[in-house]
Amino acid sequence: MKEKTLFSITGLFDSSDEIGHAVEAVVKAGYKKYDVNTPFPVHGLDTKMKLPPSKLGYFALVLGLMGASAALFFMWWSISKDYPIIIGGKPYFALPAFIPITFEVTVLTASVGTVLTMLFLFFRLPNINHPLQDTNYMRNVSNDKFGISIEAEDPLFEAGKVKDFLKSLNAQDVGEIYFEEDETADSTRIFSPKFIAFLIVTAVIISGVTYFTLNKLLFMDPFNFMEEQQRFAPEGQTTFFKDTRMMRTPPAGAVARGAMPYMFANEPDSAAKELINPLQPDEKTLALGREKFNTYCSPCHDYLAKGNSRLMGQFPNPPSLHSEKVRNWPDGRIFHVITEGQNVMPSYAKQLEPNERWAVILYIRALQRAMNAKEGDLK
Ligand code: HEC
Repeated sequence: MKEKTLFSITGLFDSSDEIGHAVEAVVKAGYKKYDVNTPFPVHGLDTKMKLPPSKLGYFALVLGLMGASAALFFMWWSISKDYPIIIGGKPYFALPAFIPITFEVTVLTASVGTVLTMLFLFFRLPNINHPLQDTNYMRNVSNDKFGISIEAEDPLFEAGKVKDFLKSLNAQDVGEIYFEEDETADSTRIFSPKFIAFLIVTAVIISGVTYFTLNKLLFMDPFNFMEEQQRFAPEGQTTFFKDTRMMRTPPAGAVARGAMPYMFANEPDSAAKELINPLQPDEKTLALGREKFNTYCSPCHDYLAKGNSRLMGQFPNPPSLHSEKVRNWPDGRIFHVITEGQNVMPSYAKQLEPNERWAVILYIRALQRAMNAKEGDLK
């Protein structure tokens, strides 16, 4: 049998005060390689142990910077190199717009990376062995004792001296801790069948609960937030009404709120007689009229209302609006054509408010006057 190697000499104390004094003494004696184990965090112990600040923060910083630059690089590469597309008029490298994503990725890599660093670099996962494990010492300090363990690696270490030293501090149960024989070889103990089974069972339970919650529970009363409601969809079918339609026609004579029914449907002559243009041909009105005429009328009637359609034969050419007939029409008659349409010309009542129709008519009057200028107009 191989000779056992000594890991450390341990001693136990009864209270957090005693362990505090013991630690001060150990530090004073110059030991560097030692550890303290307590059943609960003891405040001020780290300062007494003169522990240096953790180096984990540097890892967090480096990982965060790596995340930030990776996010920035990826956005720069994908938007300006791989798929150059201008979004909202911004430059390819739009830093302010990239900040939220950069921030999120920084936080993500820094936090996840720091935890992984801690587990795998600092705690040496998957190796879960430690000589103190499964010892009486560990059983005591995880119950109600406070322990100190001075390791054999310490330059000042001499087994006999350390034992006497601990005893002089009134430590109980001063004893030796040895390395387990197969310790270094067995670094895969974490992958024991038990642990793997635990992982698999946990994964199955978590995905099962998630599946049940998202796919079943949320569709049950009362978790479905009234998904099923007693209501009719506009295009649906129902047996409730005789005609099986869910969408109902409004009762005869109903008028939509704010809508003004056209009084002269199919009565062009009454429209000509009764309707009076409420607008004056001032600059603003004519500008509005021109805008609307050019938008809605000019495709067929052309910009000068001469009837030179831009639709290249896809629609019948309209007659000129400079004819004797239309020039002598009262405004109300043109209003009637815009509102109801005329033969193949469709109604423009949906596109133009009544006021806009009147403005268009004033603009047509201006065009007519410009095309048929008389001597008197020049003065
Ligand atoms: C899709 C093409 C088209 C558009 C757009 C259009 N019209 Fe017409 N318009 C016609 C056609 C075609 C006629 C001739 C209808 C007929 O045969 O009576 C016509 C006739 C007219 C007439 C009667 C002319 C007459 O001599 O009988 C007026 C007035 C008129 N349009 C005004 C307008 C105004 C104002 C607009 C814009 C709001 C407009 N149109 C938009 C095609 C169009």
